Formats: sequence, structure tokens, C-alpha cells
Amino acid sequence: MTKIFAHRGSAGTHPENTMIAFYEAERAGADGIELDVQMTKDGALVVIHDETIDRTTDGTGWVKDFTYRDLQTLNAVYKFAEQYQVCRIPLLEEVLEWISGTSLLLNIELKNGLIPYEKLEEKVIGIVKHYRLEPRIIFSSFNHNSMARCRQLAPNIETALLYMEPLYQPWQYARLLGASGLHPYYRTVSESFVREAHLHHVHVRPFTINSEESMKTMFQYQVDAIFTDYPQKAKQIKKKA
Ligand code: G3P
Ligand code: CA
Repeated sequence: MTKIFAHRGSAGTHPENTMIAFYEAERAGADGIELDVQMTKDGALVVIHDETIDRTTDGTGWVKDFTYRDLQTLNAVYKFAEQYQVCRIPLLEEVLEWISGTSLLLNIELKNGLIPYEKLEEKVIGIVKHYRLEPRIIFSSFNHNSMARCRQLAPNIETALLYMEPLYQPWQYARLLGASGLHPYYRTVSESFVREAHLHHVHVRPFTINSEESMKTMFQYQVDAIFTDYPQKAKQIKKKA
């Protein structure tokens, strides 16, 4: 049965990567949440998609150039001023603390493709272990070296490879890196692709599936999970599928 992961919380209807969006994902009945992690100048792990704060907050600049204290002065919901006054960029720790009181799964995407954040893998693994959430976590990244590193450091936590362009026999490649999941751009996925991946015991969780038509197709292909900005809509369509 295909699981539904709320992408950046419920980014289609709520301010992405905020506690507001994560609470909404749970309310909507998502099976899991996907979020993005970057690192501040003083080594704090913060939940934000972009390397810069410009698009989603009322500040400007690179996450890596601010301390966590600096970032706390920013408003991560300023684009939703009619509904919300202020909401801060969450710490990964804050989300994990909340997740541990729920039954949600969590996909932590390590955003270390452009910026080589020092010891990002060690830090993320350390927090996950602190909350004993290993069985409910999937690490993913477009940086596949980073996934191999996570696998080495924490063999009991699932890893998955994110990618946009089609890969040649990605299930073999995944296995080579110790990854048990492929997180491809959904247009590269076909029914035979899913079948082949499953024959190799590799999970397929495409992103980002927002239209009714693509949701129905992915449910029909029996992918293991979808990432969607609209978990509530996905739940309704899944019920009818
Ligand atoms: O996990 C799928 C998806 O989150 C990857 O793309 O850019 O939304 O982080 P992006
Ligand atoms: Ca992401």
C-alpha cells in the first residue's frame, strides 16, 4: 500500500518546513513527513529548503552565514500574513521531539549538494539516535556520497537516493551504496521500473506528486510512497483508487 509523505509539511496549503505545516500533515492523516535540513554558522541544524533565507523568510542571505540566534529573529510565515503572525525556522531537534510523540514516519533530506556542511551526517545521526527514532527515519539526498557516508555511520537507518534524470539500473547503484530506496523525479518512473526495483528489494518513492492524475498513476504503479504538497487530497484519491 502506497504511503503518503507530506512534502515540506503540507507545502501546497501551509508555510513549508514550519511546525504549522507539520501539524497540518498529521491532521490530514499523512503517513509521514518530508523536510529539508541545512546548517547555520554555529552548527545548528535548521529545517529550511533553500541554502538562502530569501524565499521563505523576511530576511536575506545564506543560512551558513547566520547563527541560530540570528535566524530566530526571522519570520518563516511572512508570506501567509493573513493567516499567521509569526513562526520561526524550526530546529531539526524541535521537529524530532514532536515526531517522537506521534506515529509519523520522517524523511530527512540532507541539503548538502551545494554546500559541504561539515559533519552534517554525524550531527543529523546524533540527534536521531538521541530520540531513538532510527526505525521511523529515512535519510535522503541528491548528494549520494553523503548517503553512503550515512550508511557507514548508521547502518540501521534507511537511506535513499534522490535524483532528477533517469539512471541506468538504479537499483544496482542503490545497492552498491547500501541504499534501500530510490527517490526519483516522478516522470522517470514507469510500472516496469517499479516492478524491477521491487525485484531487487529497493523501495520507490517518487517526488513531487501534486495532480490528481499523477497521484492515480503512482497508486496504480504501486510505488512504496509518494511525496506530495497536498496530503489531504492524496488521502482522498487513495481511498477511491
Ligand atoms: O524528497 C523529494 C523532494 O523533496 C526533493 O526535492 O527540491 O523539493 O527538496 P526538493
Ligand atoms: Ca526536500
